[in-house]
Amino acid sequence: MKRGRPASLAVLLSGTGTTLQNLIDKIAAGELPVKIAVVVSSRPDAYGVVRAHKAGIPVEVINRKDFEDPMEHAEAVKARLAKHDIDLIVLAGYNHIVALEKSRQVPAINIHPALIPAFSGKGFYGDRVHKAVLEYGVRFTGVTVHFVDDEYDHGPVILQETVEVRDDDTVETLRSRVQQVEHRLYPTAIKLFAEGRLKVEGRRVKIMPRRRKQQS
Ligand code: GRF
Repeated sequence: MKRGRPASLAVLLSGTGTTLQNLIDKIAAGELPVKIAVVVSSRPDAYGVVRAHKAGIPVEVINRKDFEDPMEHAEAVKARLAKHDIDLIVLAGYNHIVALEKSRQVPAINIHPALIPAFSGKGFYGDRVHKAVLEYGVRFTGVTVHFVDDEYDHGPVILQETVEVRDDDTVETLRSRVQQVEHRLYPTAIKLFAEGRLKVEGRRVKIMPRRRKQQS
């Protein structure tokens, strides 16, 4: 992170952008001291693009359909991101693999609507996750925020919180309660990152205590 300016984020999305909207709202309310430098969408028609435009955030569309090979698309996204001065890549309903810098200078984080490693990995996204949770019959699901590595839903876990599954839950009711938790947990994790309080040790992420303000 660079001194003297708020942490700079790139938000990657493929869909409706409710996750992006929540971050925009939290920043506007003064609850999240970061800046969204750019939004990258893998679809030109994603509603998240409209939300970014409304908030005056620059948008780059890199259409997944323009690439046969997923890695070629990921490399194109990486090349475009390199043009921006970014501290953190935030996946927000982004359905594709990301090509990370080998040096890992810019970390990426993701939010998953279940308790990783359950109901996660390739093919587990959106309502498919909640449907699988209900079909399996587990009593608890939840939300996971994690660092991204080269596998789907796999990097070190930053924060997790449980959500109870009720007997009368449908995909819609469960999604709604899970999203309420997501909208609290993602800004919390991003803030911890921006404050330099996340220390990765192997697969474990330590949350460091808040630094005391220097006495003058
Ligand atoms: C969220 O439920 C999140 O867990 C997943 O994408 C969903 C939101 O999509 N990664 P969007 O932000 O509304 O496009």
